[in-house]
Amino acid sequence: MKHITIQDIKDLKGQAFATLTAYDYNSAQLIDQSNIPLILVGDSASMTMYGYDTTIPVSMDEMLLIVKAVTRGTQNALVVADMPFLSYQPSIEETIKNAGIFMKEGGAGAVKLEGGEHMFNNLKALVDCGIPVLGHVGLTPQSYHQMSGYKIQGKTIEGAQKIIADAQAIERAGAFGIVLECIPETLATEITKSLTIPTIGIGSGNTCDGQIQVFHDIMGLTKNNPPKHAKQYGKLYDAMLDIVNQYQKDVKK
Ligand code: KIV
Repeated sequence: MKHITIQDIKDLKGQAFATLTAYDYNSAQLIDQSNIPLILVGDSASMTMYGYDTTIPVSMDEMLLIVKAVTRGTQNALVVADMPFLSYQPSIEETIKNAGIFMKEGGAGAVKLEGGEHMFNNLKALVDCGIPVLGHVGLTPQSYHQMSGYKIQGKTIEGAQKIIADAQAIERAGAFGIVLECIPETLATEITKSLTIPTIGIGSGNTCDGQIQVFHDIMGLTKNNPPKHAKQYGKLYDAMLDIVNQYQKDVKK
């Protein structure tokens, strides 16, 4: 397989495609081997890798370490680095500086940031600098406190209209795609139909162009249950616990 470009991702509009998060060298290699076209080094690493409660605490330095590991493990897929909380909100200068670190030092091919209309200038500034951007609207976990918790977004008419306006602003700014997180399927369908860039859904029904899931959730790699929208294809936590117990028994014997 060849190296996936931004145009390749745009060309996936209207085709069902799967994408995943990754946070280390080994899982990146594995995902890449299955021809998944886009790997997101999500700031969900804050929980999956660093054990924080939300995505709010994870820092640029913590994200950069894992962006480097994932790009080293990836030969084909487009690696998108998620910009952590307050690495882009304060100013356009901060946005460009930090996205540049992920591209130049981390080897990422694109970045993702949360927010719509109010992030228009930041998104456009990145695109103007030659930094490809993936947008993210609906449930934006970095606004956990502002949203009073993780809730489905866009259930009211005003809420839905705001998300549509945000999605349109992201397309106008020049993003190559957009994540729609935890919005009603009818709204995701309308946005998917109205945009020319691919939508990538998570907890937003089956009609988006692509889907994204957290690696640990579909693998069953964590002790806790995954969110409702994540289908668990295995129970690796239990399988690995079994292996550690067997090893321990063998050594004791
Ligand atoms: O950080 C993350 O993993 C994400 C995806 C769930 C879209 O933003």
